[in-house]
Amino acid sequence: MTQKNDKAVGIIGIGSYVPEKVVTNKDFEKMVDTTDEWIFERTGIRARHFSAEGENTSDMAAHAAEKALADAKLTADDIDLIIVATATPDMFFPSTACLVQTKIKAGKAAAYDLAAGCSGFMYGISTGMQFIKTGWYKHILVIGAENLSRFMDMTDRNTCVLFGDGAGAVVLGELPAGFGILGTHLGADGSGGELLKLPAGATRMPASEETLRQRLHYIYMDGNEVFKFAIKIMGEAAVKALDDAKLTAADLDWLIPHQANIRIIQSAAKRLKMPLEKVVVNVDRFGNTSSASIPIALEEAIHDGRIKSGQLVGMVGFGAGLTWAAAVMRWYRA
Ligand code: ACO
Repeated sequence: MTQKNDKAVGIIGIGSYVPEKVVTNKDFEKMVDTTDEWIFERTGIRARHFSAEGENTSDMAAHAAEKALADAKLTADDIDLIIVATATPDMFFPSTACLVQTKIKAGKAAAYDLAAGCSGFMYGISTGMQFIKTGWYKHILVIGAENLSRFMDMTDRNTCVLFGDGAGAVVLGELPAGFGILGTHLGADGSGGELLKLPAGATRMPASEETLRQRLHYIYMDGNEVFKFAIKIMGEAAVKALDDAKLTAADLDWLIPHQANIRIIQSAAKRLKMPLEKVVVNVDRFGNTSSASIPIALEEAIHDGRIKSGQLVGMVGFGAGLTWAAAVMRWYRA
């Protein structure tokens, strides 16, 4: 939805973190019946990072948050609210956001988690910016963090090659007029919930010997159906956010799509008539890091100098729920 008042709100600091361990397609050749060629051709992925034993979602989120705070030249005490978007929390409760709050020592901040699958970071941006627009809060940390490797069935070649771990964080704050988030769009279709799920371990199917035996504590995905949905929704969602900002795709300098599959990214670019040179892609090195994928890609493109102050950036994601979300922002750096 459009900005409902004049206050310009946007990203004033950004940071990301990926765990040290790199797992290549060649490594998967030793685990399941697959090849580097198949994975690269069908997904664009060459490698991904997996968390170390004992390294939790909140640890990765805290690392990214500390970098974002340094980038914004703020301290943890300046943060009013922490929103962590994740599908792979440390625990059901307490929230991962509360764990991050104590890890980074942001004692004045409220904290909660947000569940919107891979669209979670974009949902977090849209949600967080409202608190600043209304004057309720000044500085908000929005973090997308995932530890997907914990929930991957390493015997299922259909899913285990796709995902990676990591976190991306931004600090939202007020910006000069004309900069920051100019338009957003959020959507959901719960009827598609069965296409991508973690079936057991919650209230519907509590953990039991039977759920363990049936391997129901791992990610289940109907890859083909999710693929069709993604192809359709990525372009549509981006156009709606652009409409909201009274802009068109031709105005965009950069597109940061959710990094799930290079073929989905190419199709979104085609739909928006954007040349691939204007599309930020890192799925080859990180795989699909779910809610962390957009902030990790954005951080890379900002800090390597591709995205420059004043440029218009579109971000669009889709994921479990089913959900989708997009935003358009004018990047600002003093
Ligand atoms: N290596 C080798 N063969 C494989 C592998 C693998 N890793 N995985 C699947 N195959 C096989 C299948 O078993 C199938 O074999 P069969 O014909 O004998 O049954 C064959 O390859 C073709 O399978 P398809 O599913 O048709 O392959 P497709 O080209 O559609 O690619 C993929 C599959 C990559 C999963 C694709 O459908 C996709 O990317 N879907 C979207 C996934 C996605 O974006 N998920 C995340 C969404 S939200 C979130 O991020 C959490």
